[in-house]
Amino acid sequence: MSSTTVLTESVDRVIRSRRATRAFRSDEVPRDTMRAVFELAGHAPSNSNTQPWRVEVVSGAARDRLADALVAAHAAGEQSVDFPYRDGLFDGDLATRRAQFGAQLYTALGIARDDTDLLDGYNTKSLRFYGAPHVAMLFAPAQTEARIAADMGIYAQTLLLAMAAHGIASCPQALLTFYADTVRAQLGVTDRKLLLGISFGYADDSAPVNTVRVPRAALVETTRFHR
Ligand SMILES: Cc1cc2nc3c(=O)[nH]c(=O)nc-3n(C[C@H](O)[C@H](O)[C@H](O)COP(=O)(O)O)c2cc1C
Repeated sequence: MSSTTVLTESVDRVIRSRRATRAFRSDEVPRDTMRAVFELAGHAPSNSNTQPWRVEVVSGAARDRLADALVAAHAAGEQSVDFPYRDGLFDGDLATRRAQFGAQLYTALGIARDDTDLLDGYNTKSLRFYGAPHVAMLFAPAQTEARIAADMGIYAQTLLLAMAAHGIASCPQALLTFYADTVRAQLGVTDRKLLLGISFGYADDSAPVNTVRVPRAALVETTRFHR
């Protein structure tokens, strides 16, 4: 097999195998693997090579303290969001896909949409990083606007793929950014905005929620080729 074929097949496998994992085993990622993954992610491209991301990787006792603080903030209704979210942000096709995804996820979890107790229990699991032993908090510069957010997104996907290539499962979690002040206070970050949290570790393959496979739109729905 030519080296191009090997590369193509490997990248294809990594991209297709990455998925949002929502139940983790407790064993930690070895330190050297972790450093290799975050070093690799730093090769992401950015506008004029500005590399706007700053990443706080949280494990061990600090991870447990952060989870406790998030659950407490949630219970106290203390939300703080750096990048505003509003109902209606996702409409049209986006709303349809979001609803389909929600139905698939909640069916796998065995939770009815109106079962507030079960939903609340699930939120608590989410705020505890679905049991993952690590979480990476992605901070953007204070002055972040859409163009810098795009660079952050490219970094995030590079990181997710670097993890997948090392057999590490992950879940990007916007939910964690609804408690930005709590995260900043716990991690001693003062002047940056929280764009995304990524829980990571090794997948619990016995968990039904990890069998969820969400479809993608057909190429014709998203992409036009001109010449
Ligand atoms: C920016 C972003 C935020 C997300 N936030 C959450 C979240 O708060 N909770 C969650 O369980 N999954 C979250 N996800 C995971 C998505 O639901 C998931 O990526 C999507 O449904 C596609 O599924 P897949 O990643 O398994 O291919 C998020 C993904 C992205 C990219």
